[in-house]
Amino acid sequence: MFSARVPGQLGANRLATAVAARRAAGAPVLDLTESNPTRAGFTYPSSLLAPLGHPRGLRYEPRPFGLASARQAVADDYARRGVRVGADRVVLTASTSDAYGWLFKLLADPGDEVLVPRPSYPLFEHLTRLEGVVARPYDLEYHGAWAADFGSVEAALSDRTRAVLIVSPNNPTGSFVKQHELDRLAALCAPRGVALIADEVFGDYELDPGAAADAARVLDRRDILVFSLGGLSKSIGLPQVKLGWMALAGPDALVAAALDRLELVCDTYLSVATPVQASAAELLAAGAPVRADIAARVQANYRALATRIATTPSCRLLRSEGGWYAVLQVPSLEPEEDLVLSLLLDDDVLTHPGYFFDFPRESFLVVSLLPPPALFEEGTGRILRHFDCTVTGHE
Ligand SMILES: Cc1ncc(COP(=O)(O)O)c(C=O)c1O
Repeated sequence: MFSARVPGQLGANRLATAVAARRAAGAPVLDLTESNPTRAGFTYPSSLLAPLGHPRGLRYEPRPFGLASARQAVADDYARRGVRVGADRVVLTASTSDAYGWLFKLLADPGDEVLVPRPSYPLFEHLTRLEGVVARPYDLEYHGAWAADFGSVEAALSDRTRAVLIVSPNNPTGSFVKQHELDRLAALCAPRGVALIADEVFGDYELDPGAAADAARVLDRRDILVFSLGGLSKSIGLPQVKLGWMALAGPDALVAAALDRLELVCDTYLSVATPVQASAAELLAAGAPVRADIAARVQANYRALATRIATTPSCRLLRSEGGWYAVLQVPSLEPEEDLVLSLLLDDDVLTHPGYFFDFPRESFLVVSLLPPPALFEEGTGRILRHFDCTVTGHE
């Protein structure tokens, strides 16, 4: 009865079952997987959402790409980051996930392929499959810093490839795509008529000073069709408000052709609520302090972890240039899933196993840098103690 776009097996995995059981029993859980900023103890200005109640939201004027004022507000927000894009090349979405869905409809027929980085965001598996598109991985490799393995990109490209996805900075590796990587990708993709989709939702969050300035500038491309994705969910920590966007660049004729077709897709759904569009400029301005708080927190947690782990020979913190996550390499004393379960059951600490993100081998733990510093320090301290490699003074 049901399509193969939705998996047949939908049961919770061992880890999710164990977490639910502990929570139901009221057992403490130091949650180092928290990636919802609205649950991470930040103080949001109490009037932040007040513009959503303005009576202008009572009038419905459907626009496939969104209200002109909101598209301009997004273009201005790119300008804040030093990126020039015209408001006429900005398309509003309810979320980045919606943007992916629309772009796969625009670019791919059922059975066509898109290349996705590995390790990366686990939702790609569902986002592609729900559109009838096949995700083909290409590898990111770590040699003191993460970089795309171009041998794997070339091997994954086929005559069915319609787009290559890049995530910059990537979740969870924290790596920004560099200009020379983008040049190489563009040289491979443009002649094949393959588009680039650049997920830049974490673009505001730099962990390594200077990394954002050194990152590839996707919207400067004139040689290949490019879509840059972003949204309020990360840029001002408001995932529940549901405003995302994409901005286009590339050869003018191709951008125009893409916009013509996207208009039909967007007009079919019209998913973005009017009050949030009408309030986009105010939200982006008033959310700046939230972004600053999140940036300060993730940087402080990352630095604290780097300092503590420096004296712990059996564990290693991989270099993260940006984003909200840190990756720890830990001894492979047991399979990753067992290890994450032991940390939960013995130490009350919840982490993500690397295999969630398709790390090619064991053992990696992914921790969110969003939790309040005291919780983060306690949780990561317990992880380090678990491997008996703790720093003295924190026992
Ligand atoms: C790389 C990446 N892209 C997109 C999203 C989701 O963004 P949105 O809430 O706009 O769908 C996430 C959420 O964690 C993410 O990690």
